Amino acid sequence: MTQTAPRLSPQEIERIARRIDRPIVLVGLMGVGKSTVGRRLANLLGVGFVDVDEQIERAADRSVAEIFDEFGEPYFRDGERRVIARLMGETHGVIATGGGAFVDPETRALIRDKAISVWLDCDIETLVERTARRDSRPLLRSGDPHAILLALKEERGDSYAQADCHVVTDDGPHNATALRILEAIDSWL
Ligand code: S3P
Repeated sequence: MTQTAPRLSPQEIERIARRIDRPIVLVGLMGVGKSTVGRRLANLLGVGFVDVDEQIERAADRSVAEIFDEFGEPYFRDGERRVIARLMGETHGVIATGGGAFVDPETRALIRDKAISVWLDCDIETLVERTARRDSRPLLRSGDPHAILLALKEERGDSYAQADCHVVTDDGPHNATALRILEAIDSWL
């Protein structure tokens, strides 16, 4: 079911934007829409947007899948932590992380210390459908994506629940999700 979009006037959005004094870091499972919704949110707030996976790929001159293959996941997680720490120092905009970042205890502590964290959440069927559009995610290559995503949701739920805000997304417009994030941040601040 599509949720109704909050009605926030440009003045209200501006008022919320003025209260935000830290970067906003989006966390949650693969396919939940962290990058698309993140871009929309940054647009609403008039701030910059960065995608952590893209930054890692640029720094390593390799795709995420190649980094996993050549160096392994622990190496990727260390690089991910360094990139997130750097970005949080450089921007007060919106940062979309890869799905495993907030599960790493050190990375999670860093984000909780320096940013407003928002857990984007949605049902498994939507995640399966969205992740099927691109074959770039190494963790989904080893078996049935539905079973893998279900297991990850179960394993990672307690970590994601430590985010400052929890926003459930649906098939509705990304703009509506971005507005719901703003409302959640406004109540949390
Ligand atoms: C991962 C999610 C991916 C990427 C890597 C690992 C994960 O990012 O960082 O494949 O552990 O959930 P997205 O969440 O942007 O797909």
